[in-house]
Amino acid sequence: MPDTLKNQPLSLYIHIPWCVEKCPYCDFNSHEVKNDIPEDDYVSALLADLDDDICRFNLTQRPLFSIFIGGGTPSLFSAPAIKRLLDEVLARFNHDDDIEITLEANPGTVEADKFRGFFNAGVNRLSIGVQSFASDKLIKLGRIHDSKQAKIAAKLATESGVTSFNLDLMHGLPNQSLDNALDDLKTAISLNPNHISWYQLTIEPNTIFHSKPPKLPVDDILWEIQDKGLELLKNAGYEQYEISAYAKPGFQCQHNLNYWQYGDYLGIGCGAHGKITNSNTQTITRTVKVKHPKGYLDTSRDFLDKLLTVTSDDRPFEFMMNQLRLHNAFNVSHFEKSTGVNIDTILPYLQEAKQKHLMTNKVTKTDEEWRVTTKGHRYLNDLLAIFL
Ligand SMILES: C[S@@+](CC[C@H](N)C(=O)[O-])C[C@H]1O[C@@H](n2cnc3c(N)ncnc32)[C@H](O)[C@@H]1O
Ligand code: SF4
Repeated sequence: MPDTLKNQPLSLYIHIPWCVEKCPYCDFNSHEVKNDIPEDDYVSALLADLDDDICRFNLTQRPLFSIFIGGGTPSLFSAPAIKRLLDEVLARFNHDDDIEITLEANPGTVEADKFRGFFNAGVNRLSIGVQSFASDKLIKLGRIHDSKQAKIAAKLATESGVTSFNLDLMHGLPNQSLDNALDDLKTAISLNPNHISWYQLTIEPNTIFHSKPPKLPVDDILWEIQDKGLELLKNAGYEQYEISAYAKPGFQCQHNLNYWQYGDYLGIGCGAHGKITNSNTQTITRTVKVKHPKGYLDTSRDFLDKLLTVTSDDRPFEFMMNQLRLHNAFNVSHFEKSTGVNIDTILPYLQEAKQKHLMTNKVTKTDEEWRVTTKGHRYLNDLLAIFL
């Protein structure tokens, strides 16, 4: 039966909603720290939130595939708080000994002991938000750290014991030239991370940059930055596997790959999203948790804000929106198992994409695979529009 839903690998996203300051470009659910962070209460709330989800979706038998502690600025939490959180989470699931556990860190909030403490707590992958190494750009972006602190954070990550670390960089920054952008990448590469996330700055509604737009590079420069940056990363041994993600062989982020391959994930913490497949009931459910820390920590309230069912009409589109970001192919059998929908439903759209040279397919002995072409990646919005 091709059109039957099967349970997908289960990841866990944990949201920490506090930052030292709010950056003017950021629309993530993050709040400036006003007083002390109630980290003990928050960890207790996260665990209660997790227990509610485990019970709601009857997850006691599902092995855990990866954990990602994101934010906000999780590195504002102490290592003992992260250890308590991870010990308790891991005790609730079966998991491999080397399960990928990522924590996001801001270079303005770390020192040597802290990274080592996170490693001893179980974190084996650090993701450091650098954004740029140019002083004028860091000031314009409202970052709380300078270039030197960013370089120190990378060095500390290398020495902390973690298996892998990522540097987050942005390009297309206010008044950024091609050389500025390439210099940022060259500095990042010289610090030898095994993963680089290289995002083009987007101006999001409800941010300061939206109400007071900075002067951004023109389209020609943006194209050139993208082209030359890609070449630089490739020559340095970083393979692009998603729109903004580049990794040395073997160091792709397993947690993010699971999202993009339409895997399942629990989302705990303020405003966190989750997606759970249930092969018994043949349903896919999405969860959204209470957004504001005040409401989330209010013990008289439920952590859950919304519970939504993903209809079989919506699933193919959701699948494609994620999968088309990736450079690897997807199998028809994977599409059918994770959406519960027969491939025939989207075949006319796949054929249209193929006709326009945006996608290509290959029939193997046991399956059929589809992938996005180089042209498809370049004109991704046109490709996405086919599936809308
Ligand atoms: C969830 S944020 C958290 C990272 C961490 N709090 C920090 O900023 O140091 C993850 C990454 O998204 C990227 N990002 C955030 N806002 C963005 C925007 N408007 N455009 C492009 N990338 C953005 C940044 O590179 C950031 O490091
Ligand atoms: S530190 Fe990160 S999450 Fe916090 S406001 Fe800045 S970009 Fe957003």
